[in-house]
Amino acid sequence: MKHGCKVCMGEAVKAALRENECGAHVEEFGNCIGVVDGPVVYNVTEKAIFGCKEITPDGDEPVSYGPEVDVYWLPSWLRYAYHPDQLQGVNMIIAIDGPAASGKGTLAKRIAAHYEMQFLDTGALYRATARDLLATGGDLHDVERAVHAAQNIDAATLDDPHLRDPGIGEAASKVAPIPQVRAALLDYQRRFARHPNGAVLDGRDIGTVVCPQADVKLFIKADVEVRATRRFLELSQNGLEISERQVLQDLKQRDARDRERASSPLVAAADAHLLDTTNLDIEGSCSAAIRLIDAVFGGGGKTV
Ligand code: DC
Repeated sequence: MKHGCKVCMGEAVKAALRENECGAHVEEFGNCIGVVDGPVVYNVTEKAIFGCKEITPDGDEPVSYGPEVDVYWLPSWLRYAYHPDQLQGVNMIIAIDGPAASGKGTLAKRIAAHYEMQFLDTGALYRATARDLLATGGDLHDVERAVHAAQNIDAATLDDPHLRDPGIGEAASKVAPIPQVRAALLDYQRRFARHPNGAVLDGRDIGTVVCPQADVKLFIKADVEVRATRRFLELSQNGLEISERQVLQDLKQRDARDRERASSPLVAAADAHLLDTTNLDIEGSCSAAIRLIDAVFGGGGKTV
């Protein structure tokens, strides 16, 4: 397993790691060096106090470290140890954008699980805003009340299954163009993206507005007819009576609203990787996405 990382270590640390006695397999990629089979630690003065836990050659007890050394257990793709100062800002961000029913949500969830990163479905924030606004009898064009709803979302309600109702999706696409609503939701998304385990966010404007600095940007697309069939099957499975034709018509309208709005319209970032899932099932889409991400992280990565 080989993954990229953003920490550039000094030559002293690299040399010490190369000579380490703990039997860990050390690999170098770009400016970085990491222990592939376990964590390494080093102190901030780069005097290379390091060691390995749980993988000492003869099963020795894990070595103990001086108080100046912090060991961070990081997800498998980021098995490095950082000093707290360096931990700031080293988290990876994967931005996944695309139109409704392109499969980006399922894909983003799988990618987050694969890399052991945190996942945020940003569409749920707009859906929750619309749900809460409607619940108080608010009008979808009432900017003040819409902003109040956006500012007061209860994160614990973001997995409410009713958020997936087509009516709520429709309402969300009507509050989403309001710039003040978008501004109210921006801080939550950016704070989430800074999670030390790394974060995968999916939405419409993640690569362009929310996290333009994301390490990897994917833009998922699929023909609208194929998306309509997928969405129709999903809704039918959930017991909703709706015709495929109606789903197609609704999707076309939502696409137009998402793409044509003035504030943060749905558009691929210039540096996004395009992934067309028209002829791919979820497994195929996932494998293709992980290949792309691994290529960006600079290694072979896990195979799926
Ligand atoms: O991805 P979704 O269907 O759950 O999104 C619901 C609506 O929210 C969608 O019509 C557009 C809006 N949205 C947005 O404008 N920006 C995002 N980052 C995510 C969703």
